[in-house]
Amino acid sequence: MEKQGLGFRRVVLVPCPWQGHINPMLRLGTILHSKGFSITVAHTQSNSPNTGNHPDFVFLPILSEKKSSECNDSVDFVVSLSSLNLNHKASLQKILARIVEQEQKQHEGLPCIIYDALMYSVEEVAHSLKLPSIILHTSSATSVVSFFAYAQLREEGRIPSQGSESMELVPGYHSVGFKDLPVFDFKNEDSLLELTATLRNTGSSSAIIWNSMDCLEQSSLAHFQQQCQVPNFSLCPMQKMAPASSGSLWEEDHSCITWLDKQTENSVIYVSFGSVVIIDEKDVAEIGWGLANSKQPFLWVLRPGSVNGSNSADDLLSDDFKETVGERGCIVKWAPQEQVLGHRAVGGFLSHCGWNSTLESISEGVPMICRPSFHDQRVNTRYISHVWRVGITLENGLEREEIQKAIKTLMAEKQGEEIRERAANLKRKTEIAIQKNGSSYNSLNELVEFIISL
Ligand code: UDX
Repeated sequence: MEKQGLGFRRVVLVPCPWQGHINPMLRLGTILHSKGFSITVAHTQSNSPNTGNHPDFVFLPILSEKKSSECNDSVDFVVSLSSLNLNHKASLQKILARIVEQEQKQHEGLPCIIYDALMYSVEEVAHSLKLPSIILHTSSATSVVSFFAYAQLREEGRIPSQGSESMELVPGYHSVGFKDLPVFDFKNEDSLLELTATLRNTGSSSAIIWNSMDCLEQSSLAHFQQQCQVPNFSLCPMQKMAPASSGSLWEEDHSCITWLDKQTENSVIYVSFGSVVIIDEKDVAEIGWGLANSKQPFLWVLRPGSVNGSNSADDLLSDDFKETVGERGCIVKWAPQEQVLGHRAVGGFLSHCGWNSTLESISEGVPMICRPSFHDQRVNTRYISHVWRVGITLENGLEREEIQKAIKTLMAEKQGEEIRERAANLKRKTEIAIQKNGSSYNSLNELVEFIISL
């Protein structure tokens, strides 16, 4: 991508400190840098990105007044988010004020702030310093629509009494069922409604960027464009729009690529549940034996700390299992996922369907086996299996026979062939979107012009 000689205007990125949020923000930074912007990343000290992977960026740590609560299954997400926002506000204010001072000394324009929608307190800080700000939504537009829909549906008395158990489709929400709504994971309804109201309020922000594209969720994106007073830009797949650069918080084990090189085309099932999902010990056995019995080769990411009550997930695998699979299985702690999904040997992805994994799989044309856990993952799964129809859902969670059956369907049956064909078509659409005059290509150019105009 050609640089446009923009006088190196500075863009300050404020990511939310979780892997699934850091990746799209750093990718956006890489894209904007390739367009001539100078990039500063203001990041929290916990989960700070690997600065060595982005030598052209300036990284500035935001200090926390107190230790923020960890964000995982067992801690209320809203509480954790609120403490994250509150504790970093004062330090961010100082950092931004310093940047403004420096830029003014060098006679540069005001920096533009791009912040993750979940870092909502940034908007107030930017406003107080009279800095233009743009929101980046890292989740799908449909999951955000369905998240926001809850308050209205509740007000209208339209939430079925079975709540998260209801099989009913939400009227007007494009194949999304009530049981898919992200809201049922929240422990406290009042704080959920408060968070919805906070996220809905775009304040004085100048624009919204979506990590998405028309060919995936045109109606949800159009819905936001109609509702918002500010321009919306949809850029995706970001990892294909700029030179590759890893945003991994864990060390990537590249030995799995050497292992993949030895496998035949489209034969390997890749298994990963992202950076946050925690599974139980019994799930490890179910996944393992589902894979072993499928007789397909597999590459399995068992992230340290991802199994309840166990530090080393690898210890949970029995000798019997290891003997049965032998060289047919490759197990790593963390993989270079983009490279894995782009490898010719990978033929299917058993995934929790986080939005990044979904986009990365789609843009490589890899069909999915879906096992969502929480938040946006059920909505993503709905789209994968019912709207784009590029995957199969494990309806009963992690259960060995069902895993084995899904792998067989995907790899050896007519239904799998059709799914694979649709996945290849969807991949082609994403390729067109980033080519000259494609939707993401145009949206990026409009965004660049927009930032210059601020
Ligand atoms: C979280 C939420 O759980 C998810 O639902 C939301 O959509 C984004 O934030 P996470 O669970 O980590 O994200 O999943 P996902 O969105 O798929 O992001 C994981 C990222 O880690 C991907 O970019 C993937 O490429 C990367 N990854 C994962 C690796 O680089 N190596 C691995 O071994 C596994």
